[in-house]
Amino acid sequence: MSLFLDTLNLKKTTCTNLAERPPLWMMRQAGRYMAEYRAIRSHYPQFLDFCYTPKAATEVTLQPIRRFGFDAAILFSDILTIPDALGLDVTFVKGDGPKVEKITSNTQIDTLEKNIERVADYLSPVFEAVSSIKKQLMVEGFEKTPLIGFCGGPWTVAAYMLDEKPSKDTLNLRSLFYQDKQAFKRLMVVLVEASVAYLSRQVEAGADAIQIFDSWALSVPPEMFEDAVMTPLLSICKGLKKRHPHVPIILFPRGISPYHMEVLVQAGMSGGSKLFNGLGISHTTDLAWALDALPQMAIQGNLDPAVLLAGPEATTKAAKYILNQTKGRPGFIFNLGHGITPNTPMESVDALVAVVRGQTI
Ligand code: CP3
Repeated sequence: MSLFLDTLNLKKTTCTNLAERPPLWMMRQAGRYMAEYRAIRSHYPQFLDFCYTPKAATEVTLQPIRRFGFDAAILFSDILTIPDALGLDVTFVKGDGPKVEKITSNTQIDTLEKNIERVADYLSPVFEAVSSIKKQLMVEGFEKTPLIGFCGGPWTVAAYMLDEKPSKDTLNLRSLFYQDKQAFKRLMVVLVEASVAYLSRQVEAGADAIQIFDSWALSVPPEMFEDAVMTPLLSICKGLKKRHPHVPIILFPRGISPYHMEVLVQAGMSGGSKLFNGLGISHTTDLAWALDALPQMAIQGNLDPAVLLAGPEATTKAAKYILNQTKGRPGFIFNLGHGITPNTPMESVDALVAVVRGQTI
């Protein structure tokens, strides 16, 4: 096993030669803050072409592993591959974020429904990337570094299909819920089914664990939580665990309330077997509370990515604080509270790695 997988399974690690420390990886660890990434990225005008080129995806997935020795690799791809596979136009405009063709009618949901069956074939370059990354990790001596596969949460993916900038607001998607709940639910089901097919193939290609990024869950009002976040996420977990019972799953419903975290964890534990194994928490969540209130779950997080912008000293200090809080708690995975930003200095990442590995006095 590995430090990351053992921790996710709440086990004391069986790895030898490892200090008593949490595993560390960073959301968006392959990305624009690395010069090596920018060099390869510049060859691909279209971001999705880059994601669909297994050789390029393999190379950029390995870059942060070589440079920082993180305890898990994450597949280089994007959550918007699913709308693309469902037949919607997806583009990434430089400096303006992703643009997805908007859906406006029930007829369009019918079309998406029909396209579910083509998702797995359409996304075969992603599965090729997964097996190529697994091979390359072996070749380069990282056989103890597991590979995380992923998809987006249905709410977050749907937000890109209805709203211009979900990072600012999810008004159209929320209004669909109030206007036509049936259509809303059908859309969630389409995304759940497409995600189960997509994740199953990632696992079959070699992914060792799965994370579901529900980044815009923070905009969901309490009355919608069940239909928009909990049911879709747990349905994906059920579908995936039915086919692959042992694959560990981390949910990252970013920014939901502590109350909803408890509700989600309770629902995930019902029925004897765990539907998911870890909960990612953002920097807006009180870590000490989560560790204490959710003992059944591995907890992943939650250093504020803004701390890294403040430099190596600030990073070391904040990371030490987290290490002290989490000492001895089985099932803690060190990560950021959200993705690392493109303007992060490499020295801050070096400092973070050193302090988590216990190399900073
Ligand atoms: O974590 C990793 O290193 C794996 C790769 C990964 C990417 N996107 C690569 C990427 C993962 C896991 C994602 C998930 C993702 N994509 C999310 C959920 C996580 C989060 O950060 O909230 C979301 C909301 C998206 C949608 C998306 N794709 C956004 C908002 C952007 C950024 C647009 C911008 O210009 O800032 C992307 C593009 C994207 N996906 C980049 C990377 C490295 C940057 C694109 C580039 O290099 O030009």
